[in-house]
Amino acid sequence: DDNVGDEYLMKKTAESLRSYRWFGDDGLRTFGHRSRMMQMGYDPVDWQGRPVIAIINTWSDINPCHAHFRQRAESVKAGILQSGGFPIELPAISLAEQFVKPSAMLYRNLLAMETEELIRSHPIDGVVLMGGCDKTTPGLLMGALSMDVPAVYIPAGPMLRGNWQGKTLGSGSDSWKYWDELRAGNITRQDWEGVERGIARSYGHCMTMGTASTMTAIADALGTTLPGASSIPAADSNHIAMSKMAGRRIVDMVWEDLKPSDIVKPASVQNAIAVAMAMGCSTNAIIHLIAIGRRAGVDVSLADFDAASRKVPVIANVRPSGDTYLMEDFYYAGGLPALMTRISEHLDLEMISVTGQPLRDDIAGARVFNDDVIRSCDQPIYAEGALAVLKGNLAPEGCVIKPSACSAKYQVHTGPALVFDSYEELKAQIDDDDLDVTEDSVLVLRNAGPVGGPGMPEWGMLPIPGKLVKAGVRDMLRLSDARMSGTSYGACILHVSPEAQVGGPLALLRTGDLISVNIPARSIHMDVSEDELARRRAAWVQPEAPYERGFGKMFAAHVSQAHDGCDFDFLETASGAKVPEPKI
Ligand code: FES
Ligand code: MG
Repeated sequence: DDNVGDEYLMKKTAESLRSYRWFGDDGLRTFGHRSRMMQMGYDPVDWQGRPVIAIINTWSDINPCHAHFRQRAESVKAGILQSGGFPIELPAISLAEQFVKPSAMLYRNLLAMETEELIRSHPIDGVVLMGGCDKTTPGLLMGALSMDVPAVYIPAGPMLRGNWQGKTLGSGSDSWKYWDELRAGNITRQDWEGVERGIARSYGHCMTMGTASTMTAIADALGTTLPGASSIPAADSNHIAMSKMAGRRIVDMVWEDLKPSDIVKPASVQNAIAVAMAMGCSTNAIIHLIAIGRRAGVDVSLADFDAASRKVPVIANVRPSGDTYLMEDFYYAGGLPALMTRISEHLDLEMISVTGQPLRDDIAGARVFNDDVIRSCDQPIYAEGALAVLKGNLAPEGCVIKPSACSAKYQVHTGPALVFDSYEELKAQIDDDDLDVTEDSVLVLRNAGPVGGPGMPEWGMLPIPGKLVKAGVRDMLRLSDARMSGTSYGACILHVSPEAQVGGPLALLRTGDLISVNIPARSIHMDVSEDELARRRAAWVQPEAPYERGFGKMFAAHVSQAHDGCDFDFLETASGAKVPEPKI
């Protein structure tokens, strides 16, 4: 990674660094900056002629996925110092998926704003972004793209495999699975406690192909990480080495003036979509990658995902799309660079990464060491379609399903809707033995979208009604304007757009209406006449807004719908002129 001293690559001089305005000039302001640096024990030797590198760290005491980031930041600092930079660590909102209510998604854009403004307002020439838990990857990348100073992403890395009684446990997926077994009376309370203690046994993000593993792979495929960094388990010593290497590399990137806008191009976004498909990605990837792409001025839409999904097979045999393996196995099998060699015909190998090299060189020499974990395209775990985008009168702007994680019998299905207006209503009724429901019913949850949720919570894997679980039912067709965890599975149709809260047709659906879904034909239809829908629309009353003040109010006023990526209108790159640099 080291090309320190490659003078021909140096585009920046010490005087043209952004931080020079804070430290270099002679004046009252710069006197203030320098004396305040000295207040912290620094000396001009620490900063003079050196790129100032921010380490934007999403560590916190309540984020198990980033628990190691306090130590890792020290490795990053060492790397920055080795390359002649000046590191400053800036903490940012941590967004621990498992703790932040009502949903970390409510705050993804807040992290994006914080990232952009932290960089803008401080004397920063380059930035190392530290994230990994679901929303942190898109949040950090969105902010860095808008600010467009040289940036390297350090993915937290997946945690080690879970273990219970010698059995491997996967984040999320096995919680749902054993919860149903407990409800069905097939395991004991003591077994359940064993699962609780064994499912998350090291720091790092979820190690199934959830949103975290999907988004870090996307960051990698976009070229914003060191090549292959996303596959390294958090607790592997190679993760420490990668962190130090990223610290060394960012300093050179500042001198080379290699910015996110040089890396994230239309073709690299298409590369990321292809990789997401091959990984059997989380449905959340769609929303985040649309938002990330648009920050880079690349117009991505649902159609791009559906098109890629028809071409690129799922070849990463990682749960929940796969049946056995986890991210740790994926790393030992060769990791992302090895997977990319298998789908290279679907990738633009000329796209560059933070290394400054084309992808062709970044993945040269990568090999698959276990053909069952990283399959060939002729032996995929799912031949077509990690994701499918459906449209119809129930979702005019689209909705999504992950066919690779749902039972074959629901690929083409018609059944009566059972509608819940809120999660509380669903929770109160779902285990009632008198509930009028069969395995052919379509369970519907609405008012759980970006505005209604608010923040589009991960409620889309609606629980199977208790009486059906006891009868052995483990999958049903479910439909909502919510999202679902990438570690979830089942026949769940998500992201119905427009959402019910803003008057999308989903708001007009009633219990008993027939819903037809045809995944191969990409269609979704409610069997209700236009006239009847018009009558229902005239009678529809918009539910109350969830927030009357504060961030939630701003969120509802500015968030876009799922098919547009849920960014804020005023943050989208095209929404206004570039923000000028601070003048004084
Ligand atoms: Fe952080 Fe799953 S809870 S990645
Ligand atoms: Mg998740």
